[in-house]
Amino acid sequence: MTVMITGGAGFIGSHICVELIQAGRNVVVYDNFCNSHPEVINRIRRITGTAPEVVKGDVRDVEALISALSAHRFSAVIHLAGLKSVADSVTSSAEYYDCNVVGTLRLAQAMQQTGVRNIVFSSSATVYGEPDVLPLREDHKLAPFSPYGRTKLQAEELLSDIAHSLPPLNVVILRYFNPVGSHESGLIGEDPNDVPNNLMPYISRVAIGRLPVLNVFGNDYPTSDGTGIRDYVHVVDLAAGHVAALDHVHKQKVLKVNLGTGRGTSVLELVDAYTAVSGRTIPFAFAPRRAGDIASYYASGDVAEETLGWRARRDISDMCRDAWNWQQKNPNGYLDQ
Ligand SMILES: NC(=O)c1ccc[n+]([C@@H]2O[C@H](COP(=O)([O-])OP(=O)(O)OC[C@H]3O[C@@H](n4cnc5c(N)ncnc54)[C@H](O)[C@@H]3O)[C@@H](O)[C@H]2O)c1
Repeated sequence: MTVMITGGAGFIGSHICVELIQAGRNVVVYDNFCNSHPEVINRIRRITGTAPEVVKGDVRDVEALISALSAHRFSAVIHLAGLKSVADSVTSSAEYYDCNVVGTLRLAQAMQQTGVRNIVFSSSATVYGEPDVLPLREDHKLAPFSPYGRTKLQAEELLSDIAHSLPPLNVVILRYFNPVGSHESGLIGEDPNDVPNNLMPYISRVAIGRLPVLNVFGNDYPTSDGTGIRDYVHVVDLAAGHVAALDHVHKQKVLKVNLGTGRGTSVLELVDAYTAVSGRTIPFAFAPRRAGDIASYYASGDVAEETLGWRARRDISDMCRDAWNWQQKNPNGYLDQ
């Protein structure tokens, strides 16, 4: 069984490569490396004993996709390639629509032309927007308030429509909550190019001394300690969710599934957990709320459990321990080869 992973060199994609290779699947990474480092392929080989085949290409390049998809008998594509910064999506909206929406359309067209039927798509909890009720269920209204969230919603919609067209596709849409942590080996992990947008890699860089202080945006939310609450999910659990999705994808035209733990953790709780596993002091300062931030959200995991038989296994302490292990072993990310 051969699977193409677009964006397979990135943070989440590299962990999926490991899970799939260890589950006996043949993996082809399709990536333009705009936000990843080629060294990751060597690290995947060190963990699994097998280096995935790599095709350097862009998901907007339909000819390159057709050529890559024709080279093997692919049973499925896992589509992660995309741009993911909420802030950049405001300043570079056209680029985000081009990469995330047009890229998804081109991929679906290439799959139709080459007879590859099954796709698992990386969506995001940002498609929900402000929660009316918690935990967030898949049938909650969809009202993203960033261009990034809207690109994910449009990609979901176009895939759901193409699923029912001719030739049809089978689609599993995975709505990730907040993926963090790293493989327990410390060989692969999250390695943002610039100052991290996400909380966990920011905490890691403060802990290792690359950044001086953590800004905590908002301490007056209606939560237990006033800071924002999110549903952090270990990236290895998330990767296992993709293996389960591949087993399910041919059974249903379109399935939309949350991947989260169902548990909310505040910013200060995450800082405490990280301090406990690292033994490092994490200096932090309260700063004003950021526009568009939500007080609290976390997933309902019922659909994931009922359809995919998937449930997150690792807790916040595991996530912090593995993030810290990666950070310590690779203080400068993949530049530490
Ligand atoms: N990390 C998160 O917090 C999070 C949360 C929800 C959803 N997602 C989604 O999951 C996916 C993977 O996220 P990640 O955290 O691994 O990001 P990442 O940036 O580490 O990985 C994305 C990969 O896609 C590649 N890529 C980007 N544009 C491309 C293009 N046009 N053609 C080919 N390759 C391209 C990049 O080089 C990179 O290797 C993204 O689609 C993201 O929107 C991520």
